[in-house]
Amino acid sequence: MTLAIKATGLTKKFGDVVALNGIDIEVEEGTVLGLLGPNGSGKTTIVRILATLIQADSGSASVGGFNVATQQDDVRNVIGLTGQYAAVDEYLTGRENLELFGRLFHLSKFDAAKRAAELLDRFDLSDAADRGIKGYSGGMRRRLDLAASLIGRPNVLFLDEPTTGLDPRSRQGMWKVIEELVSEGTTVLLTTQYLEEADQLANRIVVLDHGNVIAKGTSNELKSQVGGDRIEIVVDRVSDLAKTAELINGIGSAPATIEEVTKTVLLPVSGGSKAIVDVVRKLDENNIVIADIALRRPTLDDVFLSLTGHITEATPTLDTPKGRRGRKARR
Ligand SMILES: Nc1ncnc2c1ncn2[C@@H]1O[C@H](COP(=O)(O)OP(=O)(O)OP(=O)(O)O)[C@@H](O)[C@H]1O
Ligand SMILES: [Mg+2]
Repeated sequence: MTLAIKATGLTKKFGDVVALNGIDIEVEEGTVLGLLGPNGSGKTTIVRILATLIQADSGSASVGGFNVATQQDDVRNVIGLTGQYAAVDEYLTGRENLELFGRLFHLSKFDAAKRAAELLDRFDLSDAADRGIKGYSGGMRRRLDLAASLIGRPNVLFLDEPTTGLDPRSRQGMWKVIEELVSEGTTVLLTTQYLEEADQLANRIVVLDHGNVIAKGTSNELKSQVGGDRIEIVVDRVSDLAKTAELINGIGSAPATIEEVTKTVLLPVSGGSKAIVDVVRKLDENNIVIADIALRRPTLDDVFLSLTGHITEATPTLDTPKGRRGRKARR
């Protein structure tokens, strides 16, 4: 296994603020690492250190085999960076912006124009290419930004919150483009606050909080840390809740719990879809009317909340199950 990115013990302070408190990261070549964390957890600081824009206070890191502190030019030659805030010039057209980036990469005028045209085409921006980007939508700007970071054909790409502020459709479009780049062999380090984005794109995920790594693993590994599947049954009548729980208890892997407000019974299960059939049969035999039933896998929201406890601090409703808190918290 070849590592495209390796960081060991990175620390960084800004005045009294500890932005990074000893971060270790490894990203295998051709894979996507998702850096997941809330505002201020240190995501951008990590990206800026790895992209040689700032220096760590201590620790070491290499990108593409080059040391980020001592071989900055070599590092810059192999990376592309799409920052959290757009790097493109408002007053130029999309094409002019890309050509400018090309010239910054020392391409000839001809090659810069050729590369710009290729990228505009690839990112579906050909029609808007000669318009000022002041009139571009958020999604178009993000695509142009990503296109700009690809001018130098980087092996390693840093994407700092590539889809923040995009509507669901533009986000999906961006995901598709990122997946394409990865399938061509690009290594990606992506920061995000969106759990489903990390879930969708990342081979491995590092969860950050207050400058510390609080968990790492594949999405499935992280999810299994918070427990397995559960069945959620919504009954028609509140008066059926207790009886429902009692009837299905034997089917679950742990006792059922009741949430009166939502008329829901939650049953932890191990046998997934077989368990759901058993539950339906049992309730039907006993004339209990089911308003809704679903098998829920733990989401990364559940993982995040159980690891950071942030929501627990904010909302004292400790008796509600974690997943439900998670879904509310995201809104
Ligand atoms: N240049 C700076 N000067 C002072 N403090 C900084 C600077 N850059 C970052 N910080 C602080 O370091 C911490 C980590 O910031 P960072 O930008 O890395 O977080 P982030 O995870 O990218 O957050 P966000 O999701 O809001 O982009 C924060 O407390 C931030 O206020
Ligand atoms: Mg940031």
